[in-house]
Amino acid sequence: MYLTREEESMLRGDKGFSVKKSMEILVALGNIYGADKLIEVGSVQVSGVSYHNLGDAGLAFLEELAKDGRVRVLTTLNPAGMDLENWKNLGISEDFAKKQRLVIKAFEKMGIIVSCTCTPYLIGNLPRYGEHIAWSESSAVTFANSVIGAKTNREGGPSALAAAFVGKTPYYGLHLDENRIPDINIIVNAKLKNLSDFGALGYVIGKKAENKIPYITGIKEVDLDRLKSFSASVVTFGSKPIYYIQNITPGSEKYRIPKDNIIIEQSDIKEAYSHINDTVSEIELVCIGCPHCSIKEIAEIARLLENKKICPNTEFWVASSRSTKQLSDIRGYTKIIEKAGGKFACDTCMAVAPLKGRFKSVATTSAKGCYYSRHNKMLTKMGSIKQCVDAGVTGKWK
Ligand code: F3S
Repeated sequence: MYLTREEESMLRGDKGFSVKKSMEILVALGNIYGADKLIEVGSVQVSGVSYHNLGDAGLAFLEELAKDGRVRVLTTLNPAGMDLENWKNLGISEDFAKKQRLVIKAFEKMGIIVSCTCTPYLIGNLPRYGEHIAWSESSAVTFANSVIGAKTNREGGPSALAAAFVGKTPYYGLHLDENRIPDINIIVNAKLKNLSDFGALGYVIGKKAENKIPYITGIKEVDLDRLKSFSASVVTFGSKPIYYIQNITPGSEKYRIPKDNIIIEQSDIKEAYSHINDTVSEIELVCIGCPHCSIKEIAEIARLLENKKICPNTEFWVASSRSTKQLSDIRGYTKIIEKAGGKFACDTCMAVAPLKGRFKSVATTSAKGCYYSRHNKMLTKMGSIKQCVDAGVTGKWK
């Protein structure tokens, strides 16, 4: 891979330990994937933030990097293992909180904005169409490539951090236009009514498209929250972090509809629900906000929870970014949700918080949330925001 003089000097270690290590990672990646050079990135989103996943070895590595590593571009963080303020109320132990705070401190020292969210595009890390970025959380990567039209590979935590320290990433994969061409037409012949239907659609397309880039036809209208949910699901159950929806996502007008096609019928959506949902009626945890809730979703939760009470045997979490929660505070939604007995889980998420063994069942709007909750040994139910709020109020899934 061609390196400029400045990049060579970074690789030699002239700009310090962290930049040297980062260059080593980027050059190794570039050589493996056949990149011919590094390109500048406009922003970075770093995953690998939860102490639950990092452990002491990961924390020690971050602290080492934080000694001289400083980010060169706008960099934000993926969810951590706990709400950084409200962790006690969510049942996180003192020991875990102490370690998680050290992780955050290390990232803060690096100059990263420690707003921990998988929806960085809702809090000011919003790339422009065509911009090269280095993001790592799969739903955010898919949203960025597809809905925004920015260009990013699905980075790992270390390679994203390396891109942040160098301000560049190897030029391969989805940074190249030739790798962004759709190659399967997905004809949606089903009615999709609510948020979770788009999670179910992501499940079906992810599985059926296999290694191909979907060009989706048959969807007339879809709002941002549904695209957010679909982006999370299609990449969880499939492999390509990019898709096109005709006349809706940018770039769809550039391409011809691929010849090969797959038709999605209502029965496929129904079948997806039956795969995602377990047989369970008592719900111990309701978690809405995978990916993190937008202010519009929070407004809907507040409207549905007004003058109601969460069942005493059920925890009800609204997962969101801290910035969105601040907006919710101002709008009065937080007060309504908390008065009903709901809790905000900012900075964290149902996949990376240490939830294993705490809850036997979860209800959520998210297909991706169900996928990871099963890893945490929970029985899962996916449905609309209303169904989830009802489950919170009654403690049961109906
Ligand atoms: Fe976000 Fe966690 Fe879901 S990172 S997409 S809330 S699993």
